[in-house]
Amino acid sequence: MFLKFKDLLGLKHLDKKDLQTILDSVKIFKDLLKKCDKSLILCGKMVVTLFYEPSTRTRTSFEIAARKLSADVINIAVNSSSIVKGESLIDTGKTLKAMGADYIIIRHVLAGVPDILARNLDISIINAGDGFHEHPTQGLLDLYTIYERKKRIEGLKVLLVGDILHSRVAKSNIWALTKMGAEVLVSGPSTLIPASIENLGVKVYYNLDEAVRKADVLNILRIQFERQQESLFPSLREYISLYQLTKERLGMAKSDVLIMHPGPMNRGIEITSEVADAPNAAINEQIANGIAVRMAVLCLLEQSVKRKNAPSN
Ligand code: CP
Repeated sequence: MFLKFKDLLGLKHLDKKDLQTILDSVKIFKDLLKKCDKSLILCGKMVVTLFYEPSTRTRTSFEIAARKLSADVINIAVNSSSIVKGESLIDTGKTLKAMGADYIIIRHVLAGVPDILARNLDISIINAGDGFHEHPTQGLLDLYTIYERKKRIEGLKVLLVGDILHSRVAKSNIWALTKMGAEVLVSGPSTLIPASIENLGVKVYYNLDEAVRKADVLNILRIQFERQQESLFPSLREYISLYQLTKERLGMAKSDVLIMHPGPMNRGIEITSEVADAPNAAINEQIANGIAVRMAVLCLLEQSVKRKNAPSN
C-alpha cells in the first residue's frame, strides 16, 4: 500500500483508491496501539509541528503518532520563535530542514500556506488546517470513524451542520465523503453556507429538522466566531433555536444515527451536553482514531518518499 506524493495538503486531490489505502492502513495502526506496541517506521526521522493557530487535538495526536512511529518530535512555539522577529515562512521552513526536519506539520490562518511550503521544500509537509481551506487529517479521521461504525461509506447520508462557510473540516469531509460514494447534506443559516457549495455535489437544507430525519450521520460544526468579520446571523439565541442539535431534534433522527463533532465543542451552542454525551455519539472515538489516522498518514508518506528515492534498476 502506498500513496504517490510526498505531502498531504488536502483531500481534494486524493482519489478513492488513495482514501481506501489510508482507511486500510489505519486499522493496522489501531491494532498496534491496542497492543501498546511501537513501530520503527520513522526511527531516525525528525517530525516538527509548526502551529500558527491554537490546537489541542491535532498537534497532540500528531506528536503521539510520530512518537509511536519512533520519530524525534520537535514542537516550535511560534510566539517565542524568530517568526516574531519577521522571519519568513519559507526561511523558517528552510531553517527547520537544515536542522534535520523530515516532516513539517503546519497549521496556519491563511489558506494555501502548506502548499507554498511544499513547493519550496523537498521534505514532507502535512496540512494541519489552513484557513477556510482544508483540514485533511480531520477529514480522514471523520471518514474512518464513520467507516468503522457503519462498516461502509457508500450510500450513507452524512449531514454537516452549522458554520460550513468558515469550516476547513467541512471542506475536507465533503471531498472525502463524496469521493467514497456518500451523499453529503449541509444545513445552517444561508449566511454560513457558501453560495457555490452545491457545485461540490452536496445538498443544502436550511431546515435542520428536515435534514436530520434523512441522515445516517450528523457531524456538528462549531461556529467559528474568530473567523467572522461581521455577525452573520441575527442572534445567538436564534441560531440555537434553529440549528442546535438538541435531544428533541435527535428524536426525529434514525435510531442508529451517528453523532460526531470535530471539536473543540461549544456545549450549549451548536450541541447540547446531553446530545454530546449520548450513547450514539462518537466524539471521543474520533479523537482516539486521530492518532492511528496520523500514524497511517506519516507511514504512507514515508513509504512514498522511500519509493521515489529508491534507485531504479
Ligand atoms: N479538530 C481540531 O482541529 O481540533 P484542534 O483545534 O484542537 O486541533
